[in-house]
Amino acid sequence: MKIVHAASEVFPYVKTGGLADAVGALAGTFADRGHEVSVFLPGYRLALDHPAASGAERKLRLKIEMGDRFASSDVYVLTPKKNLTVYLISREEFFDRRGIYGNGERDYEDNDNRYIFFAKAVVETLRLMEFKADIVHAHDWPTGLLPVLLRYAERRHGVTLALKTVFTIHNIAFQGVFSMRSFPRTNLPDELMGIDGLEFYGQMSFMKGGLLFADHITTVSPQYAKEIQTPDFGCGLDGVIQSRASDLVGLINGIDRAIWDPATDSLLPARYTPDDLSGKAVCRAELIKRMGLTAGFKGPIFGLVARLTEQKGISLLLANREFFVSQPVALIVLGKGDARFEKALKELADEVPGRVALAMRLDETMSHLVEAGSDFFVMPSLFEPCGLNQMYSQAYGTIPLVTRVGGLVDTVIDIDEQPNAGTGIMFAPTAEGLLSGLNRALKLFGNRAGYQAVQRRCMQRDFSWTKAAAGYEALYDENL
Ligand code: ADP
Ligand code: GLC
Repeated sequence: MKIVHAASEVFPYVKTGGLADAVGALAGTFADRGHEVSVFLPGYRLALDHPAASGAERKLRLKIEMGDRFASSDVYVLTPKKNLTVYLISREEFFDRRGIYGNGERDYEDNDNRYIFFAKAVVETLRLMEFKADIVHAHDWPTGLLPVLLRYAERRHGVTLALKTVFTIHNIAFQGVFSMRSFPRTNLPDELMGIDGLEFYGQMSFMKGGLLFADHITTVSPQYAKEIQTPDFGCGLDGVIQSRASDLVGLINGIDRAIWDPATDSLLPARYTPDDLSGKAVCRAELIKRMGLTAGFKGPIFGLVARLTEQKGISLLLANREFFVSQPVALIVLGKGDARFEKALKELADEVPGRVALAMRLDETMSHLVEAGSDFFVMPSLFEPCGLNQMYSQAYGTIPLVTRVGGLVDTVIDIDEQPNAGTGIMFAPTAEGLLSGLNRALKLFGNRAGYQAVQRRCMQRDFSWTKAAAGYEALYDENL
């Protein structure tokens, strides 16, 4: 099949979170399965400067209609492997900046224009190349308008650009809601300004475009597919999603074993397998050293790698500061995010030197070391569409502590519920829930044989992308 993916971030070129990992791995997996895969992403400065994009060549020049003006774009193309072509849509005005979505403090004010432009450039490239895709697959709000722009372009030019469109929700909490004043830049007909179109509480929602106009909707876990149909998790779009429930399916992400496998991981100081965990002890010692924990620390190390936002349950962690102060445990946090969380975590680290350590930066190498060197991985998310870290941690023999939400429910098995199959510790998304989880972890750590049995089960789980890819293929093949 000819499959086109479009997303605002794709590993390795540019990444702020799991979206990049998921799209990068999906595209690679489909290419390996013999499909002809094209991936579109904005030509951010970071992406064009990335060593992986060094072979990119300027292949096309586009003229994109943006309301009553035209904006040009250079399209850079590279072929990282067989069956895979990457298109970087560049335009200095929109993408030659330091950040991706914003400057670190706040989102760029022209994100509406940037992603309208990007989606239109994808459509225009497909049209100019007479591409005729079987599938155009858009991910999250930045590409929410792609399915609708594509169908209107087909009508306007009397061509077929794609047989089917698919829209994947990686996170319904980010919807791309802008003033209706942005609407004219889409050049879509006025009828789409209403409630049956892109209108969302008087504003314009990019995500609603994807939800209403894609032929199929997917999200990244079966549990999240159920949750987003409820007011508690739907972020105001639960009604729209319910109206398309028969076209919605939840397919769990996988992990890319070429990047996340402790037996081959070149970012680690030592490698290991379930049969020989000595390399994990080397990683632990290195983590203690690199993060400045007390030398020779023997207690359990809890690791956390995440965007420091409300979603990731940082407030639950902070509500349990007493646990980290009074118990003989260590906590390592790798993450950047909301200033209030960064500040409170710094205060905690200052209060508990040698046992609580922080690295407030994006650091791919350190993220692998935290996964490998910790004893437990903490993910107290308030909601979690899929979550990748709990799968990475199981692969690395680091027992996950997770809330019972979203994809965490679909990927972790509680050790008390299933003593012979359990791989982690699960709890309610509350401060008390997390505390009970931390205490259970402490107890498990004291029982070496029990801990190691869980650890081995974790490492034996299969989280490969093959399963997810087969699910998507079935969907791509399904008749409309
Ligand atoms: P989300 O996409 O909601 O952020 P996921 O668990 O799906 O959550 O994916 C997060 C990804 O981002 C993981 O690959 C994780 O290792 C990575 N990550 C998050 N924060 C950092 C950081 N500070 N440094 C390196 N990697 C990070
Ligand atoms: C989103 C979600 C995360 C998911 C990732 C990849 O960023 O927050 O749970 O794993 O997308 O699908």
